[in-house]
Amino acid sequence: MATLSNNPVTARAHTNIALIKYWGKKDDTLIIPYTSSLSLTLDQFYTDTTVQFDASRSTDQLIIDNQISSEQPLHRVSNFLDIVRRKAQINSPAIVNSHNHVPTAAGLASSASAFAALAAAASKAAGLNLTLSELSRLARRGSGSACRSIFGGFAEWQRGEDDLTSYAMPLKAAALLEDIRVVALTVERGPKAISSRQGMHLSVTTSPYYPTWVKTCQTDLTQLKLAIEKNNFAKFGKISELNAMRMHALTLSADPDFTYFNGQTLTIMNLVKQLRHNGVACYYTIDAGPNVKVLCQKASVAKVVDTFSQLLGKQNVIVAKPGPGIQYL
Ligand code: DP6
Repeated sequence: MATLSNNPVTARAHTNIALIKYWGKKDDTLIIPYTSSLSLTLDQFYTDTTVQFDASRSTDQLIIDNQISSEQPLHRVSNFLDIVRRKAQINSPAIVNSHNHVPTAAGLASSASAFAALAAAASKAAGLNLTLSELSRLARRGSGSACRSIFGGFAEWQRGEDDLTSYAMPLKAAALLEDIRVVALTVERGPKAISSRQGMHLSVTTSPYYPTWVKTCQTDLTQLKLAIEKNNFAKFGKISELNAMRMHALTLSADPDFTYFNGQTLTIMNLVKQLRHNGVACYYTIDAGPNVKVLCQKASVAKVVDTFSQLLGKQNVIVAKPGPGIQYL
């Protein structure tokens, strides 16, 4: 049995951007994906979360960015805390206080950094001393992509088959990491109409292309790892861009069909291609929303930033570098 600490524990986790996407669950409860995925953790966006178990309380409380949260997020966090309580064999409610550090209203807050920080803070506050793999497995239960935010740099989430075998691990230090930059472009700040959870479920259950996605992802992942190993940025960018588009093809081919893109998203995609045509090595990737991340190298950051600042305004263009793994503060 774990020793419960009455002291608050604070952890920091950074967001990650998937280059080979996770899009679909084989097991909705345990969050076991159909495919393995690969991400890059980013230095600019992170969540700090403090957890304190308190036996004198009657219920859990969740505070996000100094506001008491509404019913729905609290419910999701309480369910997650139940997993931690079961593991630690405790039953105290907890206060969870979370701060998202994303440049003003950038619309980049993410469940990945949120659940990675929560997993780390809650497990430690509950007296559990988890290894990084165990922590990754735990974070996965909150949000799939969170299992990758336990690690800095490139992280691969190996899909596994069950709760024990599905977790992320860091990729060997890569030369490509030194030079890579991610230019985050914000075109919309509001919450999305279809969550990634709903979107992937609809894709798995209705897109006739889903089985092909599962096969293609495996090849894309192998190819991307090879490009990283060989420090081949052009190949790395091309595969990342292709994989993102293959994921979005699943939304367009679902029933009912849907898309996360808006007009600006398409404009940006065309501009990236134009830049490339003019000799600037840059590639795009897009998650479950209209915002775009442009992958480039140090030497071409100025050109990319300049192009998109003109289109979107400077405040909507943020340059990120590879970020670190989980930290206790
Ligand atoms: C498009 O991890 O948010 O960003 O497991 O249902 O919480 P749940 O989904 P989530 O999905 C992330 C989807 C994605 C691709 C990725 O990060 O791999």
